[in-house]
Amino acid sequence: MDKFRIRGGKPLSGTVTISGAKNSALPCLAASLLTAETVTLRNVPYVRDLITMRRLLEDLGCTVLVPELRTHRISAASVEQFEAPYELVKTMRASVLALGPLVARFGQARVSLPGGCAIGQRPIDLHLMALERMGARIEMQAGVVVATADRLKGADITFETVTVTGTENVMMAAALADGITHLYNAASEPEVVDLAELLIRMGARIEGAGTPTITITGVEALGGADHTIIPDRIETGTFIVAAAITGGALEITNCNPRHLLAVIDKLRTVGVTIDQTNDHKLEVAVSGRLKATDVTTAVYPGFPTDMQAQYMTLMTQAEGDSVITETIFENRFMHASELQRLGARIRVHGHSAYVHGPTPLTGAKLIASDLRASASLVLAGIAASGETWIDRVYHIDRGYEKIEEKLRSVGAEIERVK
Ligand code: EPZ
Repeated sequence: MDKFRIRGGKPLSGTVTISGAKNSALPCLAASLLTAETVTLRNVPYVRDLITMRRLLEDLGCTVLVPELRTHRISAASVEQFEAPYELVKTMRASVLALGPLVARFGQARVSLPGGCAIGQRPIDLHLMALERMGARIEMQAGVVVATADRLKGADITFETVTVTGTENVMMAAALADGITHLYNAASEPEVVDLAELLIRMGARIEGAGTPTITITGVEALGGADHTIIPDRIETGTFIVAAAITGGALEITNCNPRHLLAVIDKLRTVGVTIDQTNDHKLEVAVSGRLKATDVTTAVYPGFPTDMQAQYMTLMTQAEGDSVITETIFENRFMHASELQRLGARIRVHGHSAYVHGPTPLTGAKLIASDLRASASLVLAGIAASGETWIDRVYHIDRGYEKIEEKLRSVGAEIERVK
């Protein structure tokens, strides 16, 4: 297993280019199952989860051409099997995004139940409720969801909890259903909007994406499309914190600041200088002390749960006490115990973590547990004095494209050790 070796304490400076959003590329790749024509996706991030999704599509019978590293050309003209096997699903829960398209286009799907993961139990009951509401028959067979349907029908569906991939599964399934689907309490994340834009390019009739009420009018068939994935707002936020925590200054390009306004607003309150030079570029610097500031994660457009771990690392260097409250997942503070090993003063109590800062961080051996927790450990490592080793960096490779190369290019002393 690869490890990162980091020698911290160097202020970052230079330019970082943001990759495409993993959490948009995943549903967009799945959406290609909805048509026999070719779907071309550009700005696909070169990360493990997308390699997994590509393998899943190929196992189903799709042809996936990659004419250049970040362009995928998918054809689902000859899909002849409809199962997302446990081996794939257990490594990536987002495989559940094959469920909606397969049932909508082929009337059948077998998707292994994803099971929990490090950050929580993460059920898919809302996905299944929605498909049943649209006329699918759902059975459980030895841990596999077996869904069958003649033709899905439009339905009125209300999600009791906001679910991002649940919203995405319903949009994809309803696009080919017979009739109109109204989805209430839908997720409004930018990745949901990006998927809707792809589906509309494919011929879907969708209104309201980006708001809590989405209306989808089913059509007989969808066609191909050519679509560019939005920038990754979480990678953008991660690099803003990297500049702040090292007392450096970064230019961040190929980003979309409008997709992370809550993060930018919060970090400005902390004392990070963030200037938006244009629609796709941010200038980040730190002038003076960082001020401890509370945060509570929320669904979009609130402060994203996927930035909570990175923010906690920053708060260990801020002056004063801060309270970090996690409202989306039940167990997303694993990074706290690893940060304590570097010298951070953090107390976790239920859904809140209490951070006292600033505390000097000194390098240690760490183990990554999930994607965003690993990012928070890398941020701690580049801020800590001495040497930090991080094991199991495959977690971070799932969602960050060559993070060590991007960090090294702006002055961090970090290398991947096989
Ligand atoms: C998406 O996961 C993201 N993944 C996650 O990013 C992100 O943390 C999460 O949304 C929240 O923003 C992708 O988009 C591939 P949810 P998802 O369904 O869709 C509960 C990362 O780091 N729930 O919005 O799986 C669930 O338990 C990953 O890139 C149900 O109860 O999250 C959670 O408490 C981590 N029943 C809450 O809803 C369901 O059927 C939100 O989950 C579905 C969800």
